[in-house]
Parts: sequence; structure tokens; C-alpha cells
Amino acid sequence: MKKNIISLALIVLGLTACSEKSVKTAPDGFKSGQQVYNKVCGACHGVDLMGNSAVPALMDDRFSPERFSDDQIRNTIINGSQSRVMRPQRGRVSDSEIEEIIKYIRYSQESKNTNQK
Ligand code: HEC
Repeated sequence: MKKNIISLALIVLGLTACSEKSVKTAPDGFKSGQQVYNKVCGACHGVDLMGNSAVPALMDDRFSPERFSDDQIRNTIINGSQSRVMRPQRGRVSDSEIEEIIKYIRYSQESKNTNQK
């Protein structure tokens, strides 16, 4: 019972957090990644990485480092998604920008996990 109340509270908190839509500026070291991500990926995957009905949320567990490696992200950016629904983004980012984007995605996933504890 107590557990249910806690889950409910977490859901409500989560919903209000989502509805705010204000995204904090990332700390030094992740700022450039955030900028490129927002410019190149954000329009589809959301500046909060939460996606929408047609685009997967990169915050999702299935994109955690254990389940979707840095190499797989890199490959998706360069060659598009496996189903080809997401087209290759090769021409829009340099090699170093790709690395910055990956760092920023990992940072965001990590900080979401810490916020939930
Ligand atoms: C024009 C919209 C669009 C843009 C821009 C875009 N994506 Fe995607 N992305 C999608 C869609 C739609 C999917 C789901 C495709 C699928 O299910 O195959 C996807 C899937 C993915 C996946 C999962 C791939 C898979 O095979 O499951 C990753 C990782 C990803 N995108 C990362 C990125 C990153 C990083 C960027 C920026 C460099 C980016 N995307 C830019 C629309 C976009």
C-alpha cells in the first residue's frame, strides 16, 4: 500500500516535471553537446529527450548504455535507424559533434536516474 502511494507520488511528480518543458542548461563539458543535440536531434527527439508519439524517447531504458551502446548511437546517427525510419544525419554533424552528442545523451540519462532516487 505504502509502495503504491510512493509510485503514485512519483508519477505525479514525473508528469508535472514533463509539463514544465523548461530544460536546464547542461553543466560545462556538456554544453556544446547540448547545443548540437538541440539543433540536430531536438526537433524530433525533443529538447528534453522525451520524444513524442512518433519518435522514441532517448531517456528510455532501452537506450541505456547497457542496452544501446555508444557505438549503436554513433551508427544510428551516421547510417540512420535500423528500420531506416530515421534517416542518416551524417551531413549535419562532424565526427567530434557526434561524440559530444553521445556524451550529452549519457549525461542526461544519468542525471534523470539520480533525480529519481
Ligand atoms: C527527422 C527526425 C529525427 C531526427 C532529426 C533525429 N531522429 Fe533519431 N529517430 C527518429 C525516429 C522517427 C526514430 C525511430 C526510428 C525507428 O524506429 O527505426 C529514431 C530513432 C533513433 C534512435 C534509435 C535507433 C534504433 O535503431 O532503434 C536513436 C539512438 C536516435 N534516433 C538518435 C538520434 C540522434 C542522436 C539524433 C541527432 C543526431 C537523431 N536521432 C535525430 C527521428 C529523428
